[in-house]
Amino acid sequence: MTRASWGSRIGFIVAAAGSAIGLANIWRFPYIVGHFGGAAFILVYLLFLMLVGVPVFIAEVLVGRTAQASPSGAFEKIGGNKLWGLAGKGTILTGLIVSAFYSVVSGWIIGYLIMAVEGTVTTLHTTALAAQHFNAMIAHPWWAVSNHAIFMLISTSILYFGVRGGIEKANKIFLPTLFIVLILLLIQGLMLPGAENALKFLLHPNWSALTPGALITAMGHAFFTLSLGQGTMVTYGSYIPQNESIIKACTPPVIMDTIVSLLAAVVVFTIVFGSGYEPNAGPGLIFHTLPTVFSQLSGGYGLAILFFLLVFSAALTSQISAMEPTIAYLMESWNWSRHSATILCGTTAFVLGIPCALAAGLLSNVRIFDMDILDAVSTFTSDVLIPAGGFFAVVLVGYRWGYPGAMRALLPEGGASWLKGYFWFCFKITAPLLMIIVFLDALGVFR
Ligand code: ALA
Repeated sequence: MTRASWGSRIGFIVAAAGSAIGLANIWRFPYIVGHFGGAAFILVYLLFLMLVGVPVFIAEVLVGRTAQASPSGAFEKIGGNKLWGLAGKGTILTGLIVSAFYSVVSGWIIGYLIMAVEGTVTTLHTTALAAQHFNAMIAHPWWAVSNHAIFMLISTSILYFGVRGGIEKANKIFLPTLFIVLILLLIQGLMLPGAENALKFLLHPNWSALTPGALITAMGHAFFTLSLGQGTMVTYGSYIPQNESIIKACTPPVIMDTIVSLLAAVVVFTIVFGSGYEPNAGPGLIFHTLPTVFSQLSGGYGLAILFFLLVFSAALTSQISAMEPTIAYLMESWNWSRHSATILCGTTAFVLGIPCALAAGLLSNVRIFDMDILDAVSTFTSDVLIPAGGFFAVVLVGYRWGYPGAMRALLPEGGASWLKGYFWFCFKITAPLLMIIVFLDALGVFR
């Protein structure tokens, strides 16, 4: 079977950007920026993006492109033994788990998109009412599971059509849609009365809000937003031809991801400040605060639809990228056809997601470390599994493969000495070290 590949460099760029831009940019980034005091947090986040996010992103794509194999085969080939292959399999499993709970939350977005079209979202006039409505909806087993099923079905159908016909095509449709909707919302937001305050909040650093917790959150976020540690970038990298420049292919997705996070924060805060709400509403920001705001704004009906369409487009392209490593692995190691592999992957992720979909309702009594199932699974994945996967990738490149060999593959024509110095510093020192810190924090060592 010939290995699939992207139609062009643009194919990789849109797919990687689509993967990176997701719920983390539009849902999580604004609320953590709001929680940790605005501009100061953004600056620290950008620093961690350069010190950890970008090097791990490049390391993963490099491993995939060089080995032309799924994360399991690629880690084994570059690492030279089965133990490394096992680490690669671990990242595939992480991607599968991500796709299970990500689909549940994305299912809520589908539910809200439908409610926005029906006009229900704009009847939620107070945050208390919006919160009560949200809690009732996610506790409803049928609502939660059926929206999870719809989202999984859409994702699986895209993957069924393959790398070029499915993933690349879908990204070429949903990524531009996302940018158009984001710009429309930005224009709307900037015309609202609170725009000036929102921009002030986002541009004036409040250093006192930068607690150690904020630093760890910024680091973890730099990681999650680039879809690292879950086999995605290794797999997407494996569809790039050997002669493609990794630097040229990887720079645009990182820039696009960062721009979308920043613009999403501007959109959310202009809307929130415009209606006199506080920016630190936490995870409920888009489900509690925004519906209340949409209910009060003229044109709120259209804004609500556009907003949930934006989040849906972002979530879909990230979801397919978390599932693709499993499909690539089943095709490569078990010789399955893409169609059978896709169906098995979609069904497994759907079944794994069911307990998460029921976490706020039927299974709300099940507590793991004082969290419900969805919280526990997503926290464990983003605090432990994802950093572990990224850590293995960067150690594989920086230590096992070795800096000189990795640099010959990364920069075959040589490269500026500052660039080589940057990669040496990040592959060898900052990325592994900072990831160990995130990991130890997750284990509670610093508390
Ligand atoms: N990178 C994806 C996101 O930002 C997982 O949501």
